[in-house]
Amino acid sequence: MSRVAIIGAGYVGLTTGACLAHLGHTVVCADIDEERVARLTKGEVPIMEDGLFDLVAEGLESKRLRFVIGAATAAKTAEFVFLCVPTPQGDDGSADLSFVEDVAREIAPVLRPGTVIVNKSTMPVGSTRLVQRILGESGATIDAIGVASNPEFLREGTSVRDFLHPNRVVIGCDDPKIAVRVSDLYKSLDAPILITEPASAEMIKYASNAFLATKISFVNAIANLCEAVDADVREVVMGMGYDNRIGFEFLNPGPGYGGSCFPKDTAALLHASDLAGYDFSLLRGVVEVNRAQHERMIEKTRRLAGGSLNGVPIGVWGLTFKANTDDLRDSPAVFVVRRLLEEGATVRCYDPSADERASKVMAGTEVVSDPYEAARGAQVLAVLTEWDEFRWLDFARVREEMVSPTVLDARNLLEPSTMRRLGFNYEGIGRS
Ligand code: UDX
Repeated sequence: MSRVAIIGAGYVGLTTGACLAHLGHTVVCADIDEERVARLTKGEVPIMEDGLFDLVAEGLESKRLRFVIGAATAAKTAEFVFLCVPTPQGDDGSADLSFVEDVAREIAPVLRPGTVIVNKSTMPVGSTRLVQRILGESGATIDAIGVASNPEFLREGTSVRDFLHPNRVVIGCDDPKIAVRVSDLYKSLDAPILITEPASAEMIKYASNAFLATKISFVNAIANLCEAVDADVREVVMGMGYDNRIGFEFLNPGPGYGGSCFPKDTAALLHASDLAGYDFSLLRGVVEVNRAQHERMIEKTRRLAGGSLNGVPIGVWGLTFKANTDDLRDSPAVFVVRRLLEEGATVRCYDPSADERASKVMAGTEVVSDPYEAARGAQVLAVLTEWDEFRWLDFARVREEMVSPTVLDARNLLEPSTMRRLGFNYEGIGRS
């Protein structure tokens, strides 16, 4: 078992750290946020992630997991240092690597010979070499320190399960001995381990996310076409999905993809393509279809409201970028609500995970703690996130609460015939 340091106790770092401790490694997670470190040390997990609370508790109790302030403190005794700091989107779409660079400079002088740096955050092609170079320039004995790319493929909400039951583990490293040492960290998992060139590992991450984004934009485009030709996208997807080459996953039409990964990673890949002199028109189309899909939700709501949104009371169910997370980053729902406000609508929102943070993000709206209250007095109710609990509400009561029983179901969560039988004017996505 190995001594591992995790730099950045955010969603990726915390999941990685807690899961590696669960696998038997001794893990120190470092963060610059003192309050976060203090809370985690008490077992308080600041993000909503199925199973994470239990793994953190288990790690603290077994003493295989601890939390410290500062990267150098964690890195100095580690055999492996995982870089899990954010790589946000820069102004030109590129990935901003300043956090990664700062950490590399900070830890370089304290690293022991033989330590392996593992790039876990999503970083553009060439970052493994960049980190290697910064470490060398900042005082690390570069010959004795290896760097590998080991991208994460974790979905929010199921990240613990995804970590412990991965489809594959990818390790990009040009030194086979180091690659094998990194792969040993995962040897108790039942998953294929793929050892590649660093650039290939980095590209695998971007290509995977861009491909998944492409599936979503593709199905959204088909859904829009279905509306025009009286086809039902659910039936179309069913018929497509049975083809093994296509499959059913990531073919749910909706308001467009969002979250902290797809929008940022597609932008970064487009930026990298531009720099490389390749015109990735397909991916540009994917991003454009996605933007237009967000806007299409406004057009639908406007039409359902009778042609104008000015002064129209709208109820919204769901604010997070998908269900089973409390994450509002780049959420299509947040985009839609902001646009509704711009058009003069008054908006009352409900989301099962909403807390004071949501009220701040959703300034200008009323965030309520009851779905019926969100529907009260609304002329249109927009279902923007696919929380399961929305299916099971008392829709007769919802209808009573609304001034006009009109529902835009942007996630195709509800059954159109049932809704119509209950007296709703119902509109979904890609359903005739
Ligand atoms: C994604 C990748 O799945 C993961 O491998 C990577 O490491 C990080 O990015 P995540 O951001 O948690 O994970 O969300 P995901 O479940 O992939 O959904 C992304 C967005 O696509 C959400 O807005 C979701 O609602 C949307 N989506 C997904 C659809 O609109 N339709 C679908 O069929 C699937």
